[in-house]
Amino acid sequence: MPEPLKIAPANGRLGILTPGMGAVASTAYAGVIAVRKGLAEPIGSLTQLSHIRLGKREEGRNPLIREFVPLASLDDVVFGGWDPISPNALEAARTAGVLSESDLAPISSELEGVVAMPAVFDQRWVKRLDGIRVKTGENLFDLAEQLIEDIARFRSENSLERVVMVWCGSTEAYQEASAVHDTVESFEQGMRENDENISPSQLYAYAALTSGVPFANGAPNLSVDLPCMIELAARNRVAYTGKDFKTGQTLIKTILAPGFKARMLGMRGWYSTNILGNRDGEVLDDPENFKTKEVSKLGVLDAILQPEVYPELYGNIDHVVRINYYPPRGDNKEGWDAIDIFGWMGYPMQIKVDFLCRDSILAAPIVLDLALLLDLAQRADQSGNQEWLSFYWKSPHSESGSPEHDIFIQQTKLKNTLREWMGESPVTHSEAG
Ligand SMILES: NC(=O)c1ccc[n+]([C@@H]2O[C@H](COP(=O)([O-])OP(=O)(O)OC[C@H]3O[C@@H](n4cnc5c(N)ncnc54)[C@H](O)[C@@H]3O)[C@@H](O)[C@H]2O)c1
Repeated sequence: MPEPLKIAPANGRLGILTPGMGAVASTAYAGVIAVRKGLAEPIGSLTQLSHIRLGKREEGRNPLIREFVPLASLDDVVFGGWDPISPNALEAARTAGVLSESDLAPISSELEGVVAMPAVFDQRWVKRLDGIRVKTGENLFDLAEQLIEDIARFRSENSLERVVMVWCGSTEAYQEASAVHDTVESFEQGMRENDENISPSQLYAYAALTSGVPFANGAPNLSVDLPCMIELAARNRVAYTGKDFKTGQTLIKTILAPGFKARMLGMRGWYSTNILGNRDGEVLDDPENFKTKEVSKLGVLDAILQPEVYPELYGNIDHVVRINYYPPRGDNKEGWDAIDIFGWMGYPMQIKVDFLCRDSILAAPIVLDLALLLDLAQRADQSGNQEWLSFYWKSPHSESGSPEHDIFIQQTKLKNTLREWMGESPVTHSEAG
């Protein structure tokens, strides 16, 4: 049995701050408030619903995760956030149109009470949006300091013990890391000089890590996965994780692809197209913002199928991903997949998947789980990248450069990490059954 980690208890209140108060964030808040009132079940959330087997199968030990590890209770959660457009979470939820008025009515005063703080926003990074509640400052360093003050005020006004931050803002334009991102020193110098390579999401990540607040990046843009932020997280002993919530089409892709590979079926192509009509779809209609998403979505198949190990099965795959902005669908995306596989003696077969999904309904429980699990990691003094949370990401951050994308391996890693932290043996499934 491994030695259990010393994990500080989840006493007091936990603040969850989201830069971005749009469809995903407002749906996440609404769900938690509805669950607290007994109006809904937390469907899709591992921290609330999943059990975890301990020891050998015949021991019959199978507690809920939330009874096994010391997680913050939903009753202790307080929400806050920033947005350049949404004034509060109720307006955000109404604009997003994910939840019906009948579901919003019994929780409307709580949602209205979550007032968005003015955002650090720059249209250079999100061309399709016009910010109206935007901070101004002498330079980027000054803006980051304003965010740090916001975090401190949120903490004291709500008498919070701990705070975590989950980026739920729009996907920023594509960018590669540059010299300004090399070290904390170069980044701070760059903020003072208004370096054009520094994006708003990086200022939020900097503010969080400087404040000792764990950070999760729900979008595919670069924010915390930069050398300067990794250095800052190590220096301040803060946990972080990312990036890009694994929902919708990529969720299905990482469920199906490991199955084809497990049976040694070949693949010739995978064509994925989406229509969606929410604000996210509008932002992604710009080629620079779509590129950020495309890079995140394309990495998945190669990592699962390992064409370098299985060239005869996966060495020649056409993998295409398209997103089309189509307003009539709102948040109810339709994702089509045309999958061309082949079997014995090379005979081709086709699979079509038509997933009429609800993006924010799939993303909301991920926001909650990440917030609670990051808070757990921080209390367990686990700083830096939390690779065991890859389960939740389209582009899991991995220092080794080769992240795990297979959702079943990711799930095993997540549960085994919790077992080990609590002094239980990992489950390898090597015994019968
Ligand atoms: N819904 C999903 O399934 C899913 C999956 C993976 C990733 N994501 C990502 O999550 C993010 C949120 O998605 P959504 O559907 O809620 O989008 P949304 O457009 O409804 O909400 C994003 C919000 O972020 C705000 N925003 C933009 N720049 C900001 C800034 N600098 N600071 C603070 N707020 C800012 C916008 O005003 C908007 O209200 C997007 O980046 C999206 O790509 C969503």
